[in-house]
Amino acid sequence: MKISDIIGDLEGQASGPLYQKLHRALRQAIVDKRLAADDALPAERDIATDINVSRITVRKAIQALVDEGLVSRRHGAGTFITARVEKSFSKLSSFTEDMAARGWLARSAWLRRSEGTVTPEESLVLGLSPGSSVYRFHRIRYADDQPMAVETSTVPAYCLPSKEAVGSSLYEALEASGHRPVRALQRLRAVLFDDSQCELLGVEPGAPGLLIERRGFLPDGRSVELTQSWYRGDMYDFVAELNAGAA
Ligand code: GLP
Repeated sequence: MKISDIIGDLEGQASGPLYQKLHRALRQAIVDKRLAADDALPAERDIATDINVSRITVRKAIQALVDEGLVSRRHGAGTFITARVEKSFSKLSSFTEDMAARGWLARSAWLRRSEGTVTPEESLVLGLSPGSSVYRFHRIRYADDQPMAVETSTVPAYCLPSKEAVGSSLYEALEASGHRPVRALQRLRAVLFDDSQCELLGVEPGAPGLLIERRGFLPDGRSVELTQSWYRGDMYDFVAELNAGAA
């Protein structure tokens, strides 16, 4: 791949230091998908020779893309355009299904799997009487080997035969016991990860993320899940389809 074929002439760019022009041109190429997810960038010295700038200029431009999360350095392998997962908001899908749709294998690393009594807050949100049993699942979610999210779910105990019934997918286990949610309310907001979340997800301290809270319902209106998912901000893209005038 020749970067000069992809970004054209840097002189046509707005004013500013050369590395900023290169940074903007590369970013535009990523946004326009002329550089696609998982493409490897050529080596710094090859880019420098190709477009006739210094290696320092190339290095600074690439570092700016790394800082924005648009490319990532894989040790010993090179620099790659970051793959983002496009997530549709209209479908009530599971993490496992979202990843499979992109050809990735979802897996979970268990942080905690426990049985307990509903907390006062869960009792109100899930509509469960005080003293009801719940299962709690705390997991790191991976797409292939890439950590994507940290997730905490609370499920009324009557919805599953046991807490061990959940293998890699909560929704598969709920479906098998006839308790998969058919409707959900979801809230999304931007957050900054705390230190332990950064460590679990392998991102820089203070990295931005997306907190998605989902409350899932059974066909009869009972609540079946309360989940908080902290997604890596550099890995997720949310797409919503909007229709004008639908009553
Ligand atoms: C997404 C949702 C969660 C849901 C999970 C189930 O991450 N935000 O609310 O619990 O999918 O995924 P899986 O069936 O892969 O465990």
